[in-house]
Amino acid sequence: MAVDLFSPIHLGSISLKNRIAMAPLTRNRAGEGNVPQDINVTYYAQRASAGVIITEATPISDMGHGYPATPGIHSGAQIAGWKKVTDAVHAKGGKIILQLWHVGRISHPSLLPENALPVAPSAIKPAGQAFTYQGLTDFVQPRALALDELPAIVADYVQATKNALAAGFDGVEVHGANGYLLDQFLRDSTNKRTDNYGGSIENRARLLLEVVKAVADVASADRVGVRISPLNQFNDISDSAPQVLFNYVAKELSHLDIAYLHVVEGSMVEGAAIDFDFLALRKQFKGAYIANLNYDKATGNAAIAEGRADVIAYGKAYIANPDLVERFAQNAPLNAADQSTFYGGGEKGYIDYPAL
Ligand code: PHB
Repeated sequence: MAVDLFSPIHLGSISLKNRIAMAPLTRNRAGEGNVPQDINVTYYAQRASAGVIITEATPISDMGHGYPATPGIHSGAQIAGWKKVTDAVHAKGGKIILQLWHVGRISHPSLLPENALPVAPSAIKPAGQAFTYQGLTDFVQPRALALDELPAIVADYVQATKNALAAGFDGVEVHGANGYLLDQFLRDSTNKRTDNYGGSIENRARLLLEVVKAVADVASADRVGVRISPLNQFNDISDSAPQVLFNYVAKELSHLDIAYLHVVEGSMVEGAAIDFDFLALRKQFKGAYIANLNYDKATGNAAIAEGRADVIAYGKAYIANPDLVERFAQNAPLNAADQSTFYGGGEKGYIDYPAL
């Protein structure tokens, strides 16, 4: 039988009943203390028929936050809140992976402890505005991390991984995409360092690879994935030679024997050029390949049938269709997503999209 979206697969040691993944989606609906609350449990449980759910990006530390009401994985209350989520998803036969996030410079002092400056590889202010509790506010110039501060960042990823395992997650995904901290180190528009973490491709990839190795040492590599976005210009980022950079990253991640590579295959900024050979990238990596961005059922099936991807991650479709798997199976129409309720708010546009 031909392989398609409904064929089971393993991501490392995580077994999936189908190849339809729920992509990580920031929804800004955590409770007090950035703790997952009951509506978050309902939201994820409603989507448990996915082969795997990848959670919304989840800050690993106080300094990793850059948006209001994003659930963290660095306090006891947050671990307990997430445990209710994983229990509910597992009770429905689902699998769920936590996405580990540090926003770096995409933040604002008002979101950080003691109004600290956001941290980054280099002190370069992003164009644009931060989402704060007071509304949109211009980004500030971040503080460049000192060389001797980097081990503590790695340690925060390790502790967050231990917390995720305590919360019952099936695995963790290191967020190396979309202009956040690890991507800020990778790409040369944001990394102007002159130490071992800047300059050459090997140096710019060093922090990501150290983080992934340390995370794999505690979670086991076969429960670890990494998300990258070679072309995404979201959050005012770019690279002068993305193909060589990300081919190198994929090859080195392959040597770490991690479960999967998750690739945002384009830019979230409209009109950005897409000049990149994703198949060449994929060939550097021996684990599973999750493709993301603007796939539908037909293009997802085609990518799997042609061997360009193993699993497809659906984002917007999952906001509006908790039973996306059943809808694909029955060729049923999809609910349209209401953009006005993507970020923040309560139940509306979050847990009230109807199943078939
Ligand atoms: C967002 O909040 O818009 C957001 C967060 C994480 C991402 C991408 C977008 O990776």
